[in-house]
Amino acid sequence: MLRIENLHATVADKPILKGLSLAINAGEIHAIMGPNGAGKSTLSYVLGGRPGYEVIEGSATFEGQDLLDMEPHERAAAGLFLGFQYPVEIPGVSNVQFLREALNAQRKARGQDPLSGGEFLKVAREKAGLLKMDMDMLKRPVNVGFSGGEKKRNEMVQMGILDPKLAILDETDSGLDIDALRTVGDGINAIMRRPDKAVLLITHYQRLLDYVQPDFVHVLAGGRIVKSGGPELALELEREGYAEIAA
Ligand SMILES: Nc1ncnc2c1ncn2[C@@H]1O[C@H](COP(=O)(O)OP(=O)(O)OP(=O)(O)O)[C@@H](O)[C@H]1O
Ligand SMILES: [Mg+2]
Repeated sequence: MLRIENLHATVADKPILKGLSLAINAGEIHAIMGPNGAGKSTLSYVLGGRPGYEVIEGSATFEGQDLLDMEPHERAAAGLFLGFQYPVEIPGVSNVQFLREALNAQRKARGQDPLSGGEFLKVAREKAGLLKMDMDMLKRPVNVGFSGGEKKRNEMVQMGILDPKLAILDETDSGLDIDALRTVGDGINAIMRRPDKAVLLITHYQRLLDYVQPDFVHVLAGGRIVKSGGPELALELEREGYAEIAA
C-alpha cells in the first residue's frame, strides 16, 4: 500500500530524513518509535505534502501512485489520513461543516455523490458514538478550546468519518487519560483494522500498543529506520531505551 524508498527530506534546508525506507502492506499495523527530534513528525508531514518539507531524494508510492507528485488534497482523496501531533484549531468553522466539506470534496474526487446533511449527520453520529464523543462537540468550531485529549479524540472522529485507507497517527495517544486511551485504541481498531486498510502509529509508549497491537515496530533515529521487529521490540525499547540502538 505504502512504499517509501531511500527518502531524503529537508526542512528549512536542514536535512532531517536521511535515507528512510519503509513498506506497509494492506491489513498491517506498523508502529514507529524513536527519540525526540528523530524525524517522525517530519515523515508524516512529508507524506501528507505539507509545504516547507522538501524531498531531495528517494520515492514514496501509495497504491502504486507517486505520492510525492500529488497535491495534499489529492493524497487525501486517494485515501491518506494524517492525525497530527498538534491538531490545529479552526475558529469560525464548526466540526460538522468542516468534515462534511472535507468528506464531500473527497467523494467528488472519487466520482461519488455528495452526502446530504442528514446522511452526513448519521455517519457523524455513529463515529462520534464509537469514540464516545458528545455530538455537541461536533457542532463547536474545530478544536477551538478543546482540551488536549479532546483534540486527539476529535482527530479519531475525523478519521472515522473520512474512512481512509491508510492512517498515519502522530502521537495520537499523547495527552489521553487512561479511559480515553482505551476508547481511542478501540476506535482505531474498529475503524482501521481491516484487510484493505493500514495504520502507521507514531508513538513514544508501549501502552497504546497494548490496545492496537502492531504487526511491526520500527525505530526511527537520525532520519532513518535503524531497527525493525515485532511487537516485542516496543517492550524492549521501553525497558532499555534508545541508547544502544540509536548509537
Ligand atoms: N521549521 C523548522 N526549522 C528548523 N528545524 C526544524 C523545523 N521543523 C522541524 N525541525 C527539526 O527537525 C527535527 C525533526 O523534527 P520532528 O518533529 O520530525 O521530530 P520527531 O521525531 O517528531 O520528535 P518528537 O518525538 O519530539 O515529536 C528536529 O530537530 C526539529 O527541530
Ligand atoms: Mg513528532
